[in-house]
Parts: sequence; structure tokens; C-alpha cells
Amino acid sequence: RPSVVDIPVVVHVVHNTPEQDVGEAQIHSQIDVLNKDFRASNPDVDQVPPVWRDLVADVRLQFHLARTDPLGRPTDGITRTRSATADWDTDDLVKFSLSGGHDAWPADVYLNVWVCKLRRGLLGYAQFPGGAASTDGVVVTHSAFGTTGTATAPFDGGRTAVHEIGHWLNLRHIWGDDDEGCSGSDFVSDTPNQAGPNLGSPGFPHVTCNNGPDGDMFMNYMDYTDDAAMFMFTKGQAARMDATLDNARLTLTR
Ligand code: ARG
Ligand code: ZN
Ligand code: CA
Repeated sequence: RPSVVDIPVVVHVVHNTPEQDVGEAQIHSQIDVLNKDFRASNPDVDQVPPVWRDLVADVRLQFHLARTDPLGRPTDGITRTRSATADWDTDDLVKFSLSGGHDAWPADVYLNVWVCKLRRGLLGYAQFPGGAASTDGVVVTHSAFGTTGTATAPFDGGRTAVHEIGHWLNLRHIWGDDDEGCSGSDFVSDTPNQAGPNLGSPGFPHVTCNNGPDGDMFMNYMDYTDDAAMFMFTKGQAARMDATLDNARLTLTR
């Protein structure tokens, strides 16, 4: 792909309390994080261990709040819906007006991002390419969205949306989703094989699955570490996202 792709985003804020009705500054802070992390211009990229510096990828994606709505009218790229539902699950009900949420905008044109309160401490979830347009996009809990407003440590770095957009572009978890086993794969060749998810902020190196001396790439956005402890995609992951944008999500690049 020769040039940077700029993806229009619609943020659907679905709120039951004033706190859940996140402000514009919080939304813009999230877009800013996406525009740094997907260009490897995040200020913490220099914390990548020297052994992996050559693998750091500029994914060459940018994001902007949509400027026209599905009917061609000017918009700020934000919808706001007051709902009787206090919190939401991963059952996609937040994605439908009929169930108290807000319908997706056409998924071949927009990246849909729903911001609401998720239950059970869930930070976010995403739909992989190839699913129904009506549920396509990512959902992020308001307290892990952006870097200001209701964003709360240790998930106040905007990295939940980065991780979820990784899934939306077909990235798997870096440990291969086999919990603590060494046989799962993320189908990316330049990420070390890793046993299970890492939480918090591990010390380098953290060796599992005979992946020494360098160990797990726990600072990858597709691990489960804290926002301040994750700061890179690899070139292999970027290639996988590129392939998605060339196929299943091609319409979003035009
Ligand atoms: N648990 C979520 C998922 O699997 C997101 C985890 C995001 N991690 C973070 N540090 N923000 O999709
Ligand atoms: Zn995930
Ligand atoms: Ca594994």
C-alpha cells in the first residue's frame, strides 16, 4: 500500500448517566491516540526493547471523525443516545436502537465505535472482518476511552480502542488465545510464541514457551498489559492489517 489510509470514524455515545455521556474532549483525545499509535509516532515507542526496535511498524492508518452522515449531511461524527440501560454486555444490544442503543452507520464506509458502560469490568470488544454489517465495529467502555474525562488508570491511555481496532483489522491476541499453552498462534511470524496473556506492567524479559532470551513481546498492543505498558505493533501485524484493508475492508480505504 503506497499511501496512508484515512478512516472515517463515527462514535456512538450511549449513556444512562451524565458520566457515561463522554465529552468531546475525551472523544478527540481517543482519536489523537489512534493517530499516534497507528503511525508509530506515540511518545512511548522509544521504550521498545532494542532487540525489537526494527520490528516496530508504522501501520500507516489515520482516523478522523466523520464529516458527513449516511444521508450526506454535515456531522461532527458523534451520535448521542440516552438509554434506560445502565450497563451493557458483549451481546451487541448497544448496537441497535431497538434495544436502547444506536444503530451502526454503514460499515463499508465508517468505522463504528460505541462508547458505553460495559459490565463485569470489560474494557472493550470488537468484531472481526467478515461479520454482519449491523454489528461491525468496536465497543469501548467509557472509563477506558481516550485519555481525559472519565478515562481511569491504568486504562487511561486510549489503548483499549487501539487493541480493539487491531481485532477489527483481523489481529489475534499475541499469545494465540490458548490461555497458557504454547501451541496457539496469532498467525503473525515476527511475534514471539507466548504462553498466555500478560497483565499489568511486566519486567523485560519475561520468558515463556522457550522464547528466551527476549521472551514475550508484552509491550505489544495485542497483549493484555496496562495502557502505559503497551506501545507497538510489529511489521508482521501491519502486513496482516494491510491484507484486511486490501480485501474484507477495502471499501473503507476509498
Ligand atoms: N480485554 C479487551 C479485549 O480482549 C481489551 C484489553 C485492552 N487492554 C488495555 N491495556 N487497554 O479485547
Ligand atoms: Zn482482545
Ligand atoms: Ca500461547
